[in-house]
Amino acid sequence: MGEVNIAVVGATGAVGREMVKVLEERNFPVANLVLLASQKSSGEFLKFNGKKIEVSELTKNSFKNIDFALFSAGSSISKKYATHAVTAGAVVIDNSSAFRMDNQVPLVVPEVNPQDAFKHNGIIANPNCSTIQLVVALKPVYDKAGIKRIIVSTYQSVSGTGKKAIDELMEQTKAILNKKKIKREVYPHQIAFNILPQIDEFENNAFTREEMKMIHETKKIMHDDDIKITATAARVPVLYGHSESVYLETEKIMDIKSLKQIYLKMPGIKLVDDIHNAKYPLAIMSEIYDEVMIGRLRKDLAVKNGINMWIVANNLRKGAALNAVQIAELLLGSQEK
Ligand code: A2P
Repeated sequence: MGEVNIAVVGATGAVGREMVKVLEERNFPVANLVLLASQKSSGEFLKFNGKKIEVSELTKNSFKNIDFALFSAGSSISKKYATHAVTAGAVVIDNSSAFRMDNQVPLVVPEVNPQDAFKHNGIIANPNCSTIQLVVALKPVYDKAGIKRIIVSTYQSVSGTGKKAIDELMEQTKAILNKKKIKREVYPHQIAFNILPQIDEFENNAFTREEMKMIHETKKIMHDDDIKITATAARVPVLYGHSESVYLETEKIMDIKSLKQIYLKMPGIKLVDDIHNAKYPLAIMSEIYDEVMIGRLRKDLAVKNGINMWIVANNLRKGAALNAVQIAELLLGSQEK
């Protein structure tokens, strides 16, 4: 692979830092790495391949000679700066929700719809973290048996909200254990020792924005508007890793044994399903494994084409940074052919 110039926008954030790590771990062919953040971080240093790289302030002129710009500084920054990157000749891979539902912008998970990545007009969107792990698990079932209905409930870690939320959970936990008053800034309620059935704002239909993202994005990635999908998203006092309880109804009946065989062979999936030895995916395992972990696979008792499962993945890595880097790898790989 020829080397390319990469910019990471939001390099000092929870996902941005992970992007830098993933580029290094995967030996991504980086010629020059440009780290961009707000003015307050300018002058800070981050490590990449043993070298210290200085963080610069993001401006509309930050993208000269950049081949790939990985954005993760929130949707308003993406809306303001992505077109400057594209005009400068970069391909933008955007981790925010700014362009995900734009018809001109492909929404890509390399294990699911790699072909869509090649239809871009300069911007490719990275789906929401809870959608990515869901569709990776759904895809082989969809291809083999068709999917009519999905009911998903999420148990999402605080790192999905960003660094401030990680600090808030830690501080509240310490305060409660020390019988002190808790401080609350990021979430509408205490998050330590609690579960919040609200992620993001409520929409007029009484679903949250996070739940609607899962619904719309799943249909777009799977190219199927007829899938009946409903979601409930909850925030749990876990640092890293989102967990999902998923119920599926397939078109054709699918037996669990053959589904396990399929999952065992799928790149990007790790089957962790040995209930007799209490083995199933755990949120803390997502700090070790990059794969989407699937377990608790079982046939539903009431509906003959119903399947239940438990899905876990690292929200900062497969749910964000890793998926973005994989999209860049996909495009680079094709340039090589
Ligand atoms: P900074 O650290 O300088 O504020 P997180 O989601 O973990 O909170 O991270 C958000 C990322 O987006 C950080 O890298 C943050 O940089 C960056 N960011 C926030 N606002 C801006 C801005 N106005 N311009 C450039 N980067 C920004």
